[in-house]
Amino acid sequence: GGLPRFKNFPPADFTLAAERDAYPASIAKLRKTMGGTVPLYINGQDVTTADTLDSYNPALPSEILGSVCQAGVEEVDRAVEAASAAYLTWRDVAPEERAEALLKAAQYLKDNVHDMAALQVLEVGKQWDQAQADVGEAIDFLEYYAREMIRLGKPRRMGRAPGEMSHLFYQGKGVAAVIAPWNFPMAISVGMVSAAIVCGNPVVYKPAGSSSCVGRALVDMWKAAGLPDGVFNYCPGRGSVMGDHLVDHPEVSVIAFTGSMEVGLRIQERAAKVQPGQQQCKRVIAEMGGKNAIIIDDDADLDEAVLGVLYSAFGFQGQKCSACSRVVVLDSIYDRFVERLTEAAKSVKLGPSENPANYMGPVVDKAAQQNVLRYVKIAEEEGRVLVKREVSEDLKATGGCYVPLTIVGDITRDHRIAQEEVFGPVLSVMRAKDMDEALAIANSTKFALTGAIYSRSPRNLERAYKEFRVGNLYLNKPSVGALVERHAFGGFKMSGVGSKSGGPDYLLQFLDPRLVCENT
Ligand code: NAD
Ligand code: ALA
Repeated sequence: GGLPRFKNFPPADFTLAAERDAYPASIAKLRKTMGGTVPLYINGQDVTTADTLDSYNPALPSEILGSVCQAGVEEVDRAVEAASAAYLTWRDVAPEERAEALLKAAQYLKDNVHDMAALQVLEVGKQWDQAQADVGEAIDFLEYYAREMIRLGKPRRMGRAPGEMSHLFYQGKGVAAVIAPWNFPMAISVGMVSAAIVCGNPVVYKPAGSSSCVGRALVDMWKAAGLPDGVFNYCPGRGSVMGDHLVDHPEVSVIAFTGSMEVGLRIQERAAKVQPGQQQCKRVIAEMGGKNAIIIDDDADLDEAVLGVLYSAFGFQGQKCSACSRVVVLDSIYDRFVERLTEAAKSVKLGPSENPANYMGPVVDKAAQQNVLRYVKIAEEEGRVLVKREVSEDLKATGGCYVPLTIVGDITRDHRIAQEEVFGPVLSVMRAKDMDEALAIANSTKFALTGAIYSRSPRNLERAYKEFRVGNLYLNKPSVGALVERHAFGGFKMSGVGSKSGGPDYLLQFLDPRLVCENT
């Protein structure tokens, strides 16, 4: 009996005509229906607000996906109140039954994969394959956490002392505030939300502004799963208006955040302060940024290494916490590698992600565009430009949020471009005289999220295993593309506090352990 063993949802297979044809069809269908008002969803009801924020296609900013209602402090209070009330019953629903809701939600996503992925292609400029991988990861989180809750849900007998029966079991901590980024708009949202819910914690979910329409799809998903009212509340809003209020709320017990270091540190600081009426210490799970390096050893397979670095640095325009933004190259292979890398970077096509021929699309919005352009300038001042793919006049004319794909050489570890997270397609190339120096450079930032090394030397791979100190290290593989369970994901240092998402310790963060001992 029981569920079949967890397996990852398969990646898109574009050798199949059905898979190729699905995207234009789903995108066309979406274009016919999108653009309207997107309400909040509180206690099982749609709620509209006077304040709205347009979410637009970054490849064509005149195209609006939705006018998204924005929660203020009043709506946050209503949502927390609904979640608090729902907690009293949801925490006592059997773990298997809560897991069942996740499996139904997973089924809804499987039945609607292409529509869900198309939403990301238009709202955040994700390429088809990567959008589908994101929906696949959301499915994986649901399937994996459902199984994990069933595993943890069984009370555990403690000791065997005569005359007593002692059991340890878990209870949901309370209302969870889930604050999500836009870059893996469905996967990371569904991951954090479903973990909280399966543990018995009703959720107030705040998506990022630029992916709030993808966020709204979670409402449809949980409705299809038959979740009781109040267990999932969708509350998009401006971080500056309602973020602190949500974090400070005395009835919030858990805050699951993924986003930048700046916001993550602010949340941790505020959550530590006990507010009037607050009954519990808040648990903060904060997954933050990265400044990830890939080391190229002097015996690396350059065909693999060039493709791996290109994909890690420029896939989804470099907007992944796991993206490679520093490539550290051993001196003796530096010139050969750089020549191959720059040739490859000059040949990829740039343009709307809607067209699968394009390797790199626009960044997520106008603010991101300005931020990346600022860093391109810093990179130009600090290093030697190796590649700068200027945005063509045709693309500029669309008004899309394009930025140049940029590679700079002669970067050393004290340069800003080697230390600050850009979150865009800007790659620094750094030279190391030997493996000692390469590892020292790789470890020289305050972040510790992902890393990779391309090498054929067992000794150097072994050294990296021990000395390249990051949360997720990949040997002869890109630094991006973690899969649930197989590559349970998350970092340390300034990259985050919390155990790995998609891993066996994740749910424990949302639970309070209880022990009952009976004198028999
Ligand atoms: P962000 O920090 O700007 O925003 C994240 C969320 O926080 C958004 O929903 C935003 O509205 C909200 N927010 C802003 N101010 C707030 C406040 N005062 N109180 C509460 N919430 C507030 O990040 P982003 O631009 O959405 O995402 C990009 C960042 O996320 C990058 O730094 C990236 O490295 C990081 N990230 C990390 C991981 C990981 O697993 N470690 C995964 C994805 C993204
Ligand atoms: N899970 C995402 C990746 O590994 C962040 O790219």
